[in-house]
Amino acid sequence: MLLKYFLSFLFLFKHVIGQDELVTESVLNLKQVCDYCTCSEISDIESSHLVLNILCSEFDRTAELSDLDKIAWPPNPNGLKISASFEGIGLSTLGKLPPNSQVETLKFINNGIKTYWPDPFSDTPTLKRLSLSQNDLVEVTPDLFTNIDYLEELDLSYNKLQNFNPFDFKHLKHLKRLNLQSNQIKKIPVEALQPLVALEDLDLSKNGIYDLILPKDTNALSGLKRLSLSGNRIRSIVKSSFPVDNNIELLDLSNNIIEIVEEDSFLSFSNLRELNLGQNNITLVFSLPVTLQIAILKINTLYHWPKFPVGIKYIDLSYNRLSEVYDESVVNFESLEVLNIGGNQIKEMNIEKKLPNLYTLDLSYNLIAEIPKTLNAQFFPNLDELRLDGNPIETVYFKNILALKRLYMNELNKLVVVDEKAFSNVVGRGMDEGGEELNCFSLYLSNCPALTEIKEGAFDGTSLCTLDISKNNLSHLSKNLLDWSIATEGINLQHNPWHCSCDMQWVVDDILPQLYYTNNSRLMDDLRCGSPRGYEGLRLVHWYNWTAQAMCSDVLDLERSGAHGNFMMEPSSESPRVSPLTLILAACIIVSLLVAIALTVYLVKTRKKYRIRQAAMKRKRQSDLDLRHSNGVQKEQFSALNKV
Ligand SMILES: *[C@@H]1O[C@H](CO)[C@@H](O)[C@H](O)[C@H]1NC(C)=O
Ligand SMILES: *[C@@H]1O[C@H](CO)[C@@H](O)[C@H](O)[C@H]1NC(C)=O
Ligand SMILES: *[C@@H]1O[C@H](CO)[C@@H](O)[C@H](O)[C@H]1NC(C)=O
Ligand SMILES: *[C@@H]1O[C@H](CO)[C@@H](O)[C@H](O)[C@H]1NC(C)=O
Repeated sequence: MLLKYFLSFLFLFKHVIGQDELVTESVLNLKQVCDYCTCSEISDIESSHLVLNILCSEFDRTAELSDLDKIAWPPNPNGLKISASFEGIGLSTLGKLPPNSQVETLKFINNGIKTYWPDPFSDTPTLKRLSLSQNDLVEVTPDLFTNIDYLEELDLSYNKLQNFNPFDFKHLKHLKRLNLQSNQIKKIPVEALQPLVALEDLDLSKNGIYDLILPKDTNALSGLKRLSLSGNRIRSIVKSSFPVDNNIELLDLSNNIIEIVEEDSFLSFSNLRELNLGQNNITLVFSLPVTLQIAILKINTLYHWPKFPVGIKYIDLSYNRLSEVYDESVVNFESLEVLNIGGNQIKEMNIEKKLPNLYTLDLSYNLIAEIPKTLNAQFFPNLDELRLDGNPIETVYFKNILALKRLYMNELNKLVVVDEKAFSNVVGRGMDEGGEELNCFSLYLSNCPALTEIKEGAFDGTSLCTLDISKNNLSHLSKNLLDWSIATEGINLQHNPWHCSCDMQWVVDDILPQLYYTNNSRLMDDLRCGSPRGYEGLRLVHWYNWTAQAMCSDVLDLERSGAHGNFMMEPSSESPRVSPLTLILAACIIVSLLVAIALTVYLVKTRKKYRIRQAAMKRKRQSDLDLRHSNGVQKEQFSALNKV
């Protein structure tokens, strides 16, 4: 009992003293923030003027800064704007910051902030940017934003916010950007957003929002330009989802579970330029606003082409259920620059109008069995990149001239032979870094498991800057296939079962030095032989710098004939795969074996000798004994004589 009293007395005593210390400290010695953190003068983001930058992180002695209410701002004789960041220093409560009229940016990223003192920023009225990203806030209240009416940017992403009250943001009349990404919001906080009359950017992505309802009042959010609702649980879009005549330019609704989009839903937009509805479950088409330039509709279940407006520049309709190309009588693709319709069920490419500005066309993973004859310079005068990967193409033949920079034809599972003149009509286009006209193009023809042969004339009349024919089933490659010296951007021949005979010596002599010279030596790592027997898996670089034409040597020739005839060389005897180490090891083993045998023989022999000697000794002892018995008397006399 006594002890208990004593202890509580001690506690009280300590407490009072502690308080006392705290009070004097707060009055007398505020913590100079630059004694604990890094302070420097740097140019601001737009690099138009200098700012005083304060950076406190977990590496600084920040434990003593506690709630930040006892810090003293650094002297700032030049009156620079202050930007301060308190990152990952384990704050759980945010204190009221001491007065300052130069602070423009405050960041409290990655702390464990759950609560804050009332009006924490009321003495820093010049604040423009505030980030409380990656904390544990469950709610915000209006007094978090007292007296920072000129705040323009607020980042509350990665917290645990769920609900908002209508007045939470009432002070933020000048806020332009609000980031609420990755919280636990279930409903768009329509009323709380209402006072944000200057808002331009609103990020509500990665929450649990299931209903798309925005403020009905046309004045609210009338300045909103960018809205992201990606990664939520929205199921449908209806005509009344958006305010009438809104000014949204970029709308991201990707990665939801939208199935229904009402026909007229987007007609209330007067400025929409980019619409992302990718990764949803949309089956039926709907109208698009006339201002649209970028339409991302990938990974849905669309069976038909939506009607795109005249100014459309970028269309991504990949991974849908399209079985035909667009209907030319209803669209105008004069402005189209990028068209991605990969991952559909398109068989033909019958078009009659040219796409004058298209520079990227992706037709990969469709059902195209032969190269469409419309893929030519007349219809696609500006094409840079064409993708035909993953189609059931059996024969490669470009019927008409096509100029481009990059041609992708990977994963053509049905391609066995590339015939003469297959690529003769494909030509290069564009300029290199030095402004020189480029007449070569890059071809990626990789991962075709059945591709066994590329005929010598396949590239007659054209030239390549890059050739990737890795991961095919090729065993021979003709030196006359190309002017290899032009392909300075890389020649990838790896992962093919090359037959390492004299026919391939030129690869060692010409291609390998070029790969070294053009800094592409990584393309030699898996350039290996597939045959003849004994050479499987051996890297071609093994023969690099050999003085003789190594692959044409007798050893190889013998072996080659051996593979066909009766004579069979033992590959291991001459095989270059036997390293000196192996030889030394073998020699050691043999020597030790010999020594062991010699030892055994010696031991056996000596043992035999020993036994013979033993037997002889035994016999001798016996005869001696016999002698002593007979001459006992004589011996006694003899010894007596000795004693005397
Ligand atoms: C998408 O819709 C199809 C039928 O229209 C349905 O079978 C599928 O489960 C839906 N997918 C999702 C993710 O809702
Ligand atoms: C690869 O080529 C060899 C002949 O060179 C052939 O026997 C084999 O079937 C081919 N593999 C495939 C997957 O087509
Ligand atoms: C290869 O790299 C070296 C040094 O990194 C550079 O000097 C040389 O110009 C490069 N060669 C080519 C052809 O890019
Ligand atoms: C090949 O020889 C050249 C010079 O003769 C040398 O610079 C290079 O390092 C050698 N390469 C290999 C892989 O041995």
